[in-house]
Amino acid sequence: MNNNPIGVYDSGFGGLSVWRELHRALPNESLLYLGDGKNCPYGSKSVEQIRELAERAVGELIDRGAKLVVVACNTATAAAITHLRSTFPDTPIVGLEPAIKPACLESKTRKVGVLATERSLKGEKFLTTLAKYGEGVEVFKSVGEGFVEAVESNREEDAQTLEIVRKVVEPMIAQGVDIIVLGCTHYPFLRHVIERVVGDHQIRIIDSGEAVGKRVKSLLDEFGLGASADNEPQMEFITYSSEEYRLRLMAKAVEK
Ligand code: DGL
Repeated sequence: MNNNPIGVYDSGFGGLSVWRELHRALPNESLLYLGDGKNCPYGSKSVEQIRELAERAVGELIDRGAKLVVVACNTATAAAITHLRSTFPDTPIVGLEPAIKPACLESKTRKVGVLATERSLKGEKFLTTLAKYGEGVEVFKSVGEGFVEAVESNREEDAQTLEIVRKVVEPMIAQGVDIIVLGCTHYPFLRHVIERVVGDHQIRIIDSGEAVGKRVKSLLDEFGLGASADNEPQMEFITYSSEEYRLRLMAKAVEK
């Protein structure tokens, strides 16, 4: 048993979509969320820059007592997960990857759309998973240009946001995809906008949130790290940005 928090890290608000899944799947666990904020977006940064930022953030979560860390950011996972695991070998670290495997296995039209950041779409694990499961599947990859910025600045409902979503989602619809993978943890906050663009087309939109909840649960069991039944879970939010940003993180975590 261990009542220390699970650390959850992202470049900003995106990892809150994973935080929600963790909170739902593991209501007894304390969660310590670090949304960098100051250096967001990570998507077009170099691997070296992201490694440095991720090492600092994950190191901070571990210093503050995190018993397990979820890198709730596809981009940081793609650039830094191997480095993080070798730098912090005593702490289980879970990464996030675009759900390309289930998408390829379940697509009926054999056409799949993937939305992610530039760095994630170049990630080694993404490319090897794609090579392994993507045979015979046409995969249409697109960077969600401007998506992260829209979520970071609370502009999900703006007309301009609908336009930037249209720009990348309509070509996927025209290609006949039946699954769109949200390969960035910021994008689930735009799910309702994507659904609006998808309209009546038979397209499933999937992300990795639920799978991560299951993975964390099984790791806690494996390492005997789960919280005790009488634990009173604490929810803490930290950032390298301003106090105002930190309060917005807190509010967004629980917003409907
Ligand atoms: N939320 C992130 C991801 O899952 C990173 C977005 C960004 O900072 O560019 O990829």
